[in-house]
Amino acid sequence: MPDTIRCAVIGYGPMHHFGRAHCAWIDHTSELELVGVCDIDPERAEVAKQDWPEIETWNSTAQLFAREDIDLVSIVTPHFTHCPIALEAFEAGKHVVVEKAMCLSVAEATAMIEAAEAAGKTLAVHHNRRHDGNFRRIRQLVEDGEIGRVFQIDLQAGGYGDPEHGWYTEKAKGGGLLYFWGPHAVDWVLTLAGERMTGVTGFFHKLVWDHVDIADHAKVLIRFESGCVADVTYSRINAAPRPLWRILGTEGAIVDTGAGATRGYEQVISTPPQGSVKLIRVSDRGRRREEMEVPNLDNDWHSYWQELADHLLRGAPVPVTGHDGRRTIAVFEAAERSSRSGVTEPVPYE
Ligand SMILES: NC(=O)c1ccc[n+]([C@@H]2O[C@H](COP(=O)([O-])OP(=O)(O)OC[C@H]3O[C@@H](n4cnc5c(N)ncnc54)[C@H](O)[C@@H]3O)[C@@H](O)[C@H]2O)c1
Repeated sequence: MPDTIRCAVIGYGPMHHFGRAHCAWIDHTSELELVGVCDIDPERAEVAKQDWPEIETWNSTAQLFAREDIDLVSIVTPHFTHCPIALEAFEAGKHVVVEKAMCLSVAEATAMIEAAEAAGKTLAVHHNRRHDGNFRRIRQLVEDGEIGRVFQIDLQAGGYGDPEHGWYTEKAKGGGLLYFWGPHAVDWVLTLAGERMTGVTGFFHKLVWDHVDIADHAKVLIRFESGCVADVTYSRINAAPRPLWRILGTEGAIVDTGAGATRGYEQVISTPPQGSVKLIRVSDRGRRREEMEVPNLDNDWHSYWQELADHLLRGAPVPVTGHDGRRTIAVFEAAERSSRSGVTEPVPYE
């Protein structure tokens, strides 16, 4: 049994500096060792070398996968490359962490899950924002029963503005409007609801932004077995945004603007609590009502990587499995199908 996992990051891009964030998280985890960075753009590989002088760099995944002494690769490249690179990695006998969105389609997700199983290697999806301080607080309040039984979850982001965002706004490369922020939102909702989905209804609008081929506005309604319903909306034509979260329960509600929750994100590995969520509690059949601000918990994004080390070295659970990643992609696909068919579509994965 090794005592460290030797890691390489694939993709060191300039758009969100997320390859660098992966390097920082790996570097901070004592049982993970950052060996190198691979980027097909030699300039980006050079930037990585300047940031991390001790590491090796490669300009093709073939060079990296030829290295038998690398145990794990972390894929931080555009969405359309996630599946092919992951399949190549499993073929070479590597464990894989793949950024959200896991891939473009359920068919790709299934191929990745099957390839990992065939290789006997780990597939983990980087839904690290389960560790955001506001989400951690919201989850705790809901699980502690502070607002009773949850029957509606509204989550929305975006606003009004030109969506142009490089490859993210090319459908064939990024996947579509939902694939940028949607993976966080849908993963949060599915984690919070913690129950089987029974169907998805989607509403997509393409009304304003002609220079990109993704939707301008998407609303996704997810129905759960208990009757709870989630409304996840992301828009580039919403001139009147609502708060990020509004959760209704039989004994209260939670409202959160998300302010402060991700301050420092992409630069740091964790932060102390920032911001708060509003908790509303009602009792005596609505006659008594109290409102309070509850501070967020820490943003502990780094713990994803510690959980990964615990999994690889000590058999703890995978932080976020390929099956979890596939559920999110399945919701996007079902929503798009539903938007065309006009009816609620089933989701094949729980
Ligand atoms: N979890 C989060 O909160 C979060 C935040 C931002 C970005 N992301 C994700 O990170 C990923 C990368 O996004 P980004 O904004 O950094 O993109 P980016 O375009 O800035 O960077 C991608 C990099 O990958 C390189 N690349 C492309 N194809 C490659 C290949 N075949 N082999 C090696 N390198 C290759 C490019 O040269 C580029 O430097 C996406 O999946 C994105 O959704 C996640």
